Amino acid sequence: MPTSLDDKPLHRGIERVLISEQALAQRVEELGAEIAGHYYGREPLMIGVLTGAFVFMSDLIRAMAIPVRVEFIAVSSYGLATETSGVVRILKDLSRPIEGEHVLLVEDIIDSGLTLRYLLDVLHRRNPASLSLAALLHKEKARAAEIVPDWVGFTIPDEFVVGYGLDVAERYRNLPFVGVYRPDEKPVYSS
Ligand code: PRP
Repeated sequence: MPTSLDDKPLHRGIERVLISEQALAQRVEELGAEIAGHYYGREPLMIGVLTGAFVFMSDLIRAMAIPVRVEFIAVSSYGLATETSGVVRILKDLSRPIEGEHVLLVEDIIDSGLTLRYLLDVLHRRNPASLSLAALLHKEKARAAEIVPDWVGFTIPDEFVVGYGLDVAERYRNLPFVGVYRPDEKPVYSS
């Protein structure tokens, strides 16, 4: 598994690779097959949590050989900060009701668990036929928030991770791997 970083401008500020591009691809393929098997004969409505989940979502749906529909919901709990504010807001809601739907919520990371505790509660009250959760990354400490995803890509330690959709101040989402952010480094391209 490659753990080295080269001299690319995008890699400035990244301390090390935590999950390589290859490991991500392999795990997402596995998850896609498992989830497709679970929903075989049904057509889940997959709801991605913007912005971070858009990369995972796009790879996951292409790893599922069953019909799916896709929606996105946008929430914000962090803003430009690196620590959660504890306040969750819906910035963009779903475009239609989910009553009677088999809903699969797709999230990039469960950190404190506050975002998902709020979102799962909101969606549950809209009476879906079922409501499940797939999270690419699950921080070990998030278990304290009693969020138990139905599918998890990787359980990770409590480090600030970026890439594969995850950002710091909107940057690094386009890293093809998940890396550990080094906060003392100047952000990419800043002077
Ligand atoms: C991040 C991430 C999750 C949430 C997890 O979103 O995408 O939605 O934080 O944190 P929690 O478990 O502590 O609630 P963020 O608000 O940073 O927005 P983004 O997806 O646009 O980056």
